Amino acid sequence: MIHAAGSSGPAAPPRGDRTAAWAALQSHFEAHGRRFDLRDAFAADAQRFERFSLEAPHVFADLSKNRLDDTALALLLQLARETGVEAHRDAMFAGAPINATEGRAVLHTALRAPRGKAPFSDEVHETLDAMLAYADEVRDPARSAIRDVVNIGIGGSDLGPQMAVPALAAYCQPGLRLHFVANVDGHDLARLLTTLEPERTLFVVASKTFTTQETLANAQTAKTWFLERMGESGVAALRRHFVATTTNVSAAAAFGIETTFGFWDWVGGRYSLWSAIGLPIAIALGSVHFRALLAGAHAMDRHFAEAPLHRNLPVLLGLLDVWNRNFHGFSSRSVAPYHQGLARLPAYLQQLEMESNGKCVDIDGEPLVHASSPVVWGEPGTNGQHAYFQMLHQGTDVIPVEFIAVRETSHALLDVPPTVRAVLDAQHVKLLANCLAQSQALMQGQSFEQALGSKAPTASQTLAPEVIARHRSFPGNRPSTTLLLERLDPAGLGALIALYEHRVFTSGAVWGINSFDQWGVELGKALCNALLPRFESGDDAGLDASTAGLLARLRR
Ligand code: F6P
Repeated sequence: MIHAAGSSGPAAPPRGDRTAAWAALQSHFEAHGRRFDLRDAFAADAQRFERFSLEAPHVFADLSKNRLDDTALALLLQLARETGVEAHRDAMFAGAPINATEGRAVLHTALRAPRGKAPFSDEVHETLDAMLAYADEVRDPARSAIRDVVNIGIGGSDLGPQMAVPALAAYCQPGLRLHFVANVDGHDLARLLTTLEPERTLFVVASKTFTTQETLANAQTAKTWFLERMGESGVAALRRHFVATTTNVSAAAAFGIETTFGFWDWVGGRYSLWSAIGLPIAIALGSVHFRALLAGAHAMDRHFAEAPLHRNLPVLLGLLDVWNRNFHGFSSRSVAPYHQGLARLPAYLQQLEMESNGKCVDIDGEPLVHASSPVVWGEPGTNGQHAYFQMLHQGTDVIPVEFIAVRETSHALLDVPPTVRAVLDAQHVKLLANCLAQSQALMQGQSFEQALGSKAPTASQTLAPEVIARHRSFPGNRPSTTLLLERLDPAGLGALIALYEHRVFTSGAVWGINSFDQWGVELGKALCNALLPRFESGDDAGLDASTAGLLARLRR
């Protein structure tokens, strides 16, 4: 799918909207998709659940509650073939420079491959072994006094570890506290610093480029605080209390950091939790569990690389995303993890999906004529039910929901008395019942007649029952996908994240875009740098009236 201009190789496959499959999907949507009703589809096909669900490593997926039929699925698979998704995938695994605008390979999969099974294996495993040995030392109370680990990083240098550490809390070292500071807003770090003792704190300065304004500002403040609190011994102690994870080792050294774990330009920021950027995860979990996380992701990599398209879960989810976005016109997707440990998953997925596929030109720089990344958002269940689910059920927009449920609890891994564990496990059944009930309600809906025939004790007695019934009707036919994990353990989480990575790859490949650059973040950075001196000088020459007016108010 590399559409590189001027390349002399075989003709690149067309982007999605220029294929025969796309045109056929459009016709099929007009004839059947637009009026597709999930309730009718289940009534007509007793096997629908079996036929539209799939087992992949560590993840079972039920796609049956989507507005998808056999013809649409067959055409979507044809679309994947016509757009060369498989060849593009193989090029990624082989280390071809598929990130064309930056001339880079995309090899996060090499970070979780067993030794000798992927490009750059020697460097990858040498760094991994060194990082894990360091992590095991830091987390060992017999060898280290560290009690607080503060990761200073933003975007891909923050969101992965910040998501994974609480997700795997049951596997984390008791007594060790992990903190994540990202925002350039000093309130975040200031509050944290008041709780720390410098002798017992390790700062991890995480930045692929080691040039990011937010991270350098926070790292500089942390260093100032450390030196101030440590007094005379501060400079010598700095090397034991600051470590960097970066591809820019010389910049970290210039900052005064001696211990650095490196990675490579072929690891994208939002794909980097498997690299040295995963150091906080490794410190929290230890090397054995960190390797299990990698192994889970690798199992999903093999599935993505080897399963036929029609049984390939990341491919199917990516194609479903295209169907929902470009044909049904659904502009957002809500992610509802029914596990408190996955509370930061939606934020992580926002960067993964929206920074990867939020593009308006294809890989050749030609404008797209269709929509790309949807808005991805969400909160853990059941909290979302008591906030925005109202809109999902009765709002005017149809928003596909992605439920993520975990069958087993991890309460047994915690130091909880058996009686309390029994009650906690009962709570888990309530959680799962809520999860299933929501997807059921979204699909079933409630007709006017059903609403009229059922009691509503809290409804006004002064309004006509028909009026109340209209308020209590649910349109239904609202699509959802449910992903099930057996348990939220390191391997399961690794597989789940890799599943999302490859799904984003698939829709990006169909759209013909480069999912691995992020030029859209650059303009704001440049304008911020240009504005900074104006806060000092007050110079507003050349600024638009709004920016100049706001600047003046902020400087008052
Ligand atoms: O926001 C843009 C971005 O470049 C992300 O892609 C990246 O994850 C983040 O900034 C942090 O970059 P770095 O790791 O280089 O500090």
